Amino acid sequence: MRVTIIGAGYVGLVSGACFADFGHTVTCVDKDEGKIARLQNGEIPIFEPGLDDLVKDNVDQGRLFFTTDPNQAIRDADAVFIAVGTPSRRGDGHADLTYVYAAAEEIAGLMQGYTVVVTKSTVPVGTGDEVEAIIKRTRPDADFSVVSNPEFLREGAAINDFKRPDRVVVGTDDERAKARMTDLYRPLFLNETPIVFTSRRTSELTKYAANAFLAMKITFINEIADLCEAVGANVQEVAKGIGLDNRIGRKFLNAGPGYGGSCFPKDTLALMKTARDAGAPIELIETTVRVNSARKQKMAQKIVEALDGNVTGKTIAILGLTFKPNTDDMRDAPALDIVPTLQDEGAKVRAFDPEGMKEAKHMLKDVTFASGPYDCVQGADAVVIITEWDQFRALDLDRVKDALKSPIMIDLRNIYRPQEMEAKGFKYFSVGRP
Ligand code: NAD
Ligand code: UGA
Repeated sequence: MRVTIIGAGYVGLVSGACFADFGHTVTCVDKDEGKIARLQNGEIPIFEPGLDDLVKDNVDQGRLFFTTDPNQAIRDADAVFIAVGTPSRRGDGHADLTYVYAAAEEIAGLMQGYTVVVTKSTVPVGTGDEVEAIIKRTRPDADFSVVSNPEFLREGAAINDFKRPDRVVVGTDDERAKARMTDLYRPLFLNETPIVFTSRRTSELTKYAANAFLAMKITFINEIADLCEAVGANVQEVAKGIGLDNRIGRKFLNAGPGYGGSCFPKDTLALMKTARDAGAPIELIETTVRVNSARKQKMAQKIVEALDGNVTGKTIAILGLTFKPNTDDMRDAPALDIVPTLQDEGAKVRAFDPEGMKEAKHMLKDVTFASGPYDCVQGADAVVIITEWDQFRALDLDRVKDALKSPIMIDLRNIYRPQEMEAKGFKYFSVGRP
């Protein structure tokens, strides 16, 4: 099948490479000339484990192409995916659909023959109806179907999530479109991946409900962690104790500095807006959003308190800046709140992140960037772990302790054990553990 993907970002590029690997012929179109030039030169513009090899293999096999010119790519396509960004709209937090609608107009002007237009971007309920209306308005003669096919991949594990998903959700009532989507995802059906065929609106809402539920689950365990600290209990053991109940499940019960990233923060806000507009506000999500944003300030205060309530003139070493490990994505990373708050309190910040520093340099002011974890902690008054990169999980603790001015570690991801840290002579603070 010939597949065209509009938008070669985290989702478009991964989906494109994976569809090509399934055997389809894929063209990724992006209006960012720099990004396409790099891709054409064999460079991957984002950090995503395994993506460089997957792209290279499929380019070499003649199944994956990159272009800034949508003309030919859309004319030839059996399916065109819209995978452009849907950021929060300034002011009301609703999803900004400008890019989605612009892509729909572009597709309408160019498509030939029966074409399935698929929204893979995360879009509010009713967006598919509007995409359909735009195409009909622009090309009353066009033969097409608009399908919702939300993407559930996580950054850092994107290829595995795409190729071995828990499920695929396809929203359409059109039989021709169903058949084409079935052909597209056929390699997954052979692996018995469940496919949920549903209406377009239900599919659109399913994506938001999934992200909001996960955001709520994380926020729940974060609040339980605070309670654990107050009453002398251990959140990791509580998480295990409840997570072994299959109705709850063990995943997404790691307490930490609050969820971040390009999706949970914006998608919870957009769902809140949809729900309020529909006269059916979701109070659990409203509370989740409020608790999560307050949490980032709370984490900064936790760090200040670990330094006896005063960080003026002190140097704080930060390990990890990205919103999670194995990505270079800094969008809505907790570090973007924690670092400026520490600076406002008078601290000097030195930071190291394996992949995020290039992006972080544009987003954080007055931070000294280090060349590695040991360089980062040298002479600092305390070290804070914000992101649980593997390389921070097995630090040479004696070396860290010797390098620090005072042996204080605030581990916001609970990657070390309190007893061991104490035995090593650290003043060790973590989240929700005695
Ligand atoms: P991104 O910002 O990384 O990429 C979007 C790309 O679209 C950019 O490269 C931009 O230049 C391009 N673009 C915009 N308008 C265009 C047009 N008219 N023609 C060609 N290119 C155009 O975004 P992303 O993180 O890949 O997210 C895309 C969508 O997928 C969002 O709705 C997001 O919520 C959703 N999503 C993201 C993830 C994730 O992990 N990042 C996972 C699931 C779903
Ligand atoms: C998330 C969802 O997991 C994907 O299913 C979804 O497709 C994607 O959003 C999206 O719609 O874009 P992602 O943002 O890449 O994926 O990363 P997650 O692994 O979900 O982590 C999100 C945030 O929650 C991170 O800041 C992470 O540190 C935090 N988190 C996650 C916790 O604090 N505790 C946990 O137990 C799990």
